[in-house]
Amino acid sequence: MSRKRDKRPRSYNSWMTLRLLGGLTPRTFLRRYWQKRPLFVRAALPAFRGVVDERALAALAARDDVESRLVERSGRRWNTAYGPFKSVSLKKINSTLLVSGVNLHVEAADQLLRRFDFVPQARLDDVMVSFATRGGGVGPHVDSYDVFLLQASGRRHWRVWGSNKKALEYLAETGDLLYLPPGWRHDGVALEPCFTYSIGFRAPRGAELGAAFLDWLHERGLPDAAYRDPRLEPTSRPAQIPREMIRFARTIMEKVKTSRTDASAVLGQYLTTPKPHVVFRPRRSQRTLARAEVQLDPKTQLLYSGRRFYLNGECVTVGKKDRALLKELADRRHLTGARLARAALADLVYDWHRAGYLRLKAMT
Ligand code: SIN
Ligand code: CO
Repeated sequence: MSRKRDKRPRSYNSWMTLRLLGGLTPRTFLRRYWQKRPLFVRAALPAFRGVVDERALAALAARDDVESRLVERSGRRWNTAYGPFKSVSLKKINSTLLVSGVNLHVEAADQLLRRFDFVPQARLDDVMVSFATRGGGVGPHVDSYDVFLLQASGRRHWRVWGSNKKALEYLAETGDLLYLPPGWRHDGVALEPCFTYSIGFRAPRGAELGAAFLDWLHERGLPDAAYRDPRLEPTSRPAQIPREMIRFARTIMEKVKTSRTDASAVLGQYLTTPKPHVVFRPRRSQRTLARAEVQLDPKTQLLYSGRRFYLNGECVTVGKKDRALLKELADRRHLTGARLARAALADLVYDWHRAGYLRLKAMT
């Protein structure tokens, strides 16, 4: 059976991405650096000046649907407090305010995250923004995820330690980018008030996937068999679990068979389930689809595999003819409404609009 490859909607080799990676194509970057070694790119985004100022960052840190922390250094100690913070003073030296998931609330931060979508969306996590005063930083630490650290203003001195313990040193100025694979110890100290944007990646964890699999099994239901023991014999060790019962448990467990489709369903739901603090705001006003630009909400995760789509934790299927278009919406995260209306996807799109999963923006 021949498999038709989906048409790739756009090239990942745009000149902007090449500059972002210091002249490397995404393919070369992934082969040489991704999960292997750090890369420092001078002027990766030379015009980038950040998307939030101190006030906007403090306002986000005051919200209870936003994760934030405040780190203050005194000598070689770093003390952390967790938000929400009613008010934060960002005047004292040696302090840092960090806000996670800024891309969920500020569209320009979402656009920054999407610049890295030469990496599958399934791996993209969030944009964390930090503001530090002179001497500020979170202290030397190791992260378990890949991260791009983009300097938006001020200078930060980075030290990065590989397994041979020798420190690599970088002075990050506005527009510079430092890629770090998981497990590389690092420490960034602000030389003056500065903003740093961390574009972080996620990878499924075995234990979490296992838990998601169990939930999924629970929802799907297993053939229920009752334990029967008509040949039960008297026991002189009443606390001992009967062998027969263990055999029964094993037979039940062995009935759990999975296929590639099951794995993709568990993964699709796991990857697109909104994080606990994410809230979608339902929308009432309705624009006519045919005259609108459809744009996925930054909080929406829409992924696909084969004929199945996963939207914010739910599995969605559509007619064969509509799949290519929905894939295009998922890849690009926006699409002309008229194209979706023609493809008979209008009802679905209106439902998603009402749920707050996407926006219908006036065409410009
Ligand atoms: C920071 O922005 O201060 C910390 C980022 C990091 O080291 O992961
Ligand atoms: Co870090």
